[in-house]
Amino acid sequence: MLRGKHIILGICGGIAAYKSVSLLRLLVKAGAEVQVVITPAGKEFITPVTLSALSQKPVVSEFFTANTGEWHSHVDLGLWADCMVIAPATASSIAKMANGVADNMLITTYLSAKSPVFVAPAMDLDMMAHPSTRRNLDLLRSYGNHIIEPESGELASGLVGKGRMEEPEKIVEVLDRFFATREDLHGRKMLITAGPTHEKIDPVRFIGNYSSGKMGYAIAEAAAARGADVTLVSGPVSVQVSNPAINVVRVESAREMLSACEDTFPQCDIAIMCAAVADYAPESVATSKIKREHDEIPVIKLVKNPDIAATLGQEKKKDQILVGFALETDHELENAFDKLGRKNLDMIVLNSMRDAGAGFGVDTNKVTILTSDNRRLEFSLKPKTEVANDILDTILTLK
Ligand code: CTP
Repeated sequence: MLRGKHIILGICGGIAAYKSVSLLRLLVKAGAEVQVVITPAGKEFITPVTLSALSQKPVVSEFFTANTGEWHSHVDLGLWADCMVIAPATASSIAKMANGVADNMLITTYLSAKSPVFVAPAMDLDMMAHPSTRRNLDLLRSYGNHIIEPESGELASGLVGKGRMEEPEKIVEVLDRFFATREDLHGRKMLITAGPTHEKIDPVRFIGNYSSGKMGYAIAEAAAARGADVTLVSGPVSVQVSNPAINVVRVESAREMLSACEDTFPQCDIAIMCAAVADYAPESVATSKIKREHDEIPVIKLVKNPDIAATLGQEKKKDQILVGFALETDHELENAFDKLGRKNLDMIVLNSMRDAGAGFGVDTNKVTILTSDNRRLEFSLKPKTEVANDILDTILTLK
């Protein structure tokens, strides 16, 4: 899968830089065109001569070549690349990447990269375990970067623990797998709902819920990265899409969400109902703000909202796939199975509010997937970006 791919190999200043030579060789052997970008500290560990000989390209390290004044454009490099892999990534470079400290060519290239970025940290175990490193890695994950976790083992310091850069063969495997799955949704039209709905009470108040939209947005990003043509119908959230190819339709209420879904669903191959739709809405919306000085406490009469998933379930054609979510607090499996059948879904993704790290607002999730062909797949607690790909992988096994 790496043949002909343009890869930027970023090398930082750490002992593991010696492994970058093997990584470079393996990438070139696999047919990739590799441009090495090395930090000034990286050159203390490994020489540009070795790297340029193996990549057959001058190594880039400074913003310009001192004797000729030739400018190295990080913007052009960022556009050229199909992917960027930073191996080894030191604690300091990870911190700079997380916070946009653009003081060397590698970080400016990272900030300009339009392609997927893979980060293979390497450092001592205490640095790796430090809350600042963990926080910076979480930030990189939240930007959509892929972290290739270091292994546990003997470290350069003589200590034993987590911090050894992943072996070059494994890094190549990760990249290979990434490119293999990347286009597997190419040409598929997908509808994804995300976030809460807000049901107006009066001009300043609404009924809503805690949904952040993060899971739905992660699925939309993952699907678009895998080649799908994505329409994301989103309730009011603060998260934003980073892939400009995603068509975002913003709605507020359940009725608006239903209408946007009904417009898109007939042309779709796959629909994923990730939104936390309010089940009820006020029967009528007060035209002006309900005031506190009333003698009587107002009573808000609620009416049932349409069930968007169930409506699409009724309209579903044979070749369409409909996926729902279930957020449950008790009798989780029973309730999820019931929704799978009742809404005519092909698959349901169950999150339990009992699992720490799962549910609203957090960046991680722990899901169980139930399929209409009676499979039950349990997944561990993972970042929502990875859960998104697990969900898409399982959808591809449905037909
Ligand atoms: N859903 C929907 N429209 C609604 C309610 C739910 O499309 N009015 C979808 C959700 O997006 C989700 C699935 O149905 O994919 C299950 O949502 P959930 O809130 O767990 O179930 P409800 O049907 O609302 O049942 P309950 O609130 O009783 O658990």
